[in-house]
Amino acid sequence: MRSLTAGFVLGAAGPVLGLSPLDTFYPPTLNQTSYISNSSIGTYGGIYKAPTNGPTGGDPYGTYDYCSMPHPRSQEYKSPGPIANGSVKGELVYLEYLQRHQRRSPYNILPGGENQAYECDNVRPYLYAGGNSDSGIQPMPMYAQTYQDPTNPFTPGVNGTCQYPQITIGGVQDGYQHGKDLWNVYGKKLGLIPKKPNDRVWFRSSESALTQGSAGAVLRGVWPDYDGALPLHQMVSSVDTVNEGYSCSAISSTLSELESTTEWKEHLSVTSELRSKLGSMLGATSSSWQSTFDHFSDNFQARLCNGYELPCSISNSSACVTMEMAEEVFRAGDWEWNYYWRTNPYVTKYIQVVEGLFIGEIVARLQAVLDGKSSLDYSHIFVHDGDIGPILGALGINALRWPAMASNVAFEVWKTNGKGSAGYYARVLYSGQPVQTIHGTLDWIHLSDLIAILSVYVPEDIESLCG
Ligand SMILES: *[C@@H]1O[C@H](CO)[C@@H](O)[C@H](O)[C@H]1NC(C)=O
Ligand SMILES: *[C@@H]1O[C@H](CO)[C@@H](O)[C@H](O)[C@H]1NC(C)=O
Ligand SMILES: *[C@@H]1O[C@H](CO)[C@@H](O)[C@H](O)[C@H]1NC(C)=O
Ligand SMILES: *[C@@H]1O[C@H](CO)[C@@H](O)[C@H](O)[C@H]1NC(C)=O
Ligand SMILES: *[C@@H]1O[C@H](CO)[C@@H](O)[C@H](O)[C@H]1NC(C)=O
Repeated sequence: MRSLTAGFVLGAAGPVLGLSPLDTFYPPTLNQTSYISNSSIGTYGGIYKAPTNGPTGGDPYGTYDYCSMPHPRSQEYKSPGPIANGSVKGELVYLEYLQRHQRRSPYNILPGGENQAYECDNVRPYLYAGGNSDSGIQPMPMYAQTYQDPTNPFTPGVNGTCQYPQITIGGVQDGYQHGKDLWNVYGKKLGLIPKKPNDRVWFRSSESALTQGSAGAVLRGVWPDYDGALPLHQMVSSVDTVNEGYSCSAISSTLSELESTTEWKEHLSVTSELRSKLGSMLGATSSSWQSTFDHFSDNFQARLCNGYELPCSISNSSACVTMEMAEEVFRAGDWEWNYYWRTNPYVTKYIQVVEGLFIGEIVARLQAVLDGKSSLDYSHIFVHDGDIGPILGALGINALRWPAMASNVAFEVWKTNGKGSAGYYARVLYSGQPVQTIHGTLDWIHLSDLIAILSVYVPEDIESLCG
């Protein structure tokens, strides 16, 4: 059993509502299963609701918001301490920005059926191909329009016009605002992002339509008037270093090991009543629904974050998921993410096999900046919770709640000048604030120290590690 930090008693200074926005990111008892079972914790100040339309952002700014995580904004942005107080002179020379896609419809449809329709007619997910030059074929801008044909005998288990998952209108609107805010900080204020895309900016996404859809919305916010097309780099999906692209049997074997520990079993035992209630209400009794909180969380979050209600049973419309049940699901989900990427006994290896190659790519770009050889000023990569989680784990974040919609990590590199103090410093913002880690708050550290922190997770030989 893990013990409380000496002297810390959750809520001792008053109700959970007294938390500051930043506190909501760092529940000190997240590594205990009592965090899951103690219903008075509620959402630990987190927000899990948003209307269909955006843009939305947690209120007050900086609060953990599952539907739309905070991101750097010029209204609140502060330079790193020593730059802000003038003790050091320097400028931002590089930004490595990673983000999860914006809010969306769910991956996981309730096995018993969904009692509400999902509508996505208000979004146009574009997909079209053309020649690679302006003189080549210019395609018709086509978008996907989901429909159901009455002659198709198969029913999808959910009514409406969405694909699962797909970006929703609120996600598109949030993304556009996200990009506008990034421009205001890193373009207008700090002069790093150029007025229009040039060869020192670089974009990448996973193979998923979700991350591509987010990129289009966010980058339109960054450059509202640019009328060309931009490359969004992607690896071949069978070897992709994000979103668990390449195959590696050590990923699933390490996962089974960490899901065999006493702590893991304890988190299932404290939630057995909840799981069995939800299972019978929603037809979700299979192990894929019962062995982790991934599917319930995903299903409920997608409803609440897009203007819908929590689900009810199809066979009994008065048997519904309550907010209290959903909150316990969310606390259990947060506990699991902290366990996967921070506290399980195999965590170093788990991060290495899942995310080590991608972390190595980030380290290589940071090293190029340190060596004065970077060919880029701004890299922006659109990925998934399963990528943001291990990166925050590698940084040693003090507590890791589920990296929510549009959660983001900004690696800033500052170059200082002046006699004797020339050098490269880094800071790392998680969803707009310097991240709090076992190495301290990463507001101003030597770039070489940040590289050293991350390098532990870069495998020397991934093929042998994968087995
Ligand atoms: C649990 O988290 C607290 C607060 O972050 C920390 O002090 C403690 O060492 C952690 N316990 C374990 C076993 O990880
Ligand atoms: C449950 O959490 C509340 C804070 O919301 C705290 O005051 C209380 O001590 C906790 N109870 C247990 C049994 O851990
Ligand atoms: C400026 O800020 C840094 C870091 O926050 C601190 O160490 C330093 O003492 C401050 N200097 C002045 C002159 O306030
Ligand atoms: C889907 O919509 C149709 C027509 O409105 C309705 O008859 C049917 O019950 C709905 N199905 C579900 C699972 O809600
Ligand atoms: C329907 O659900 C309600 C609320 O859980 C319950 O009280 C009631 O007995 C259920 N009805 C049937 C027919 O199962």
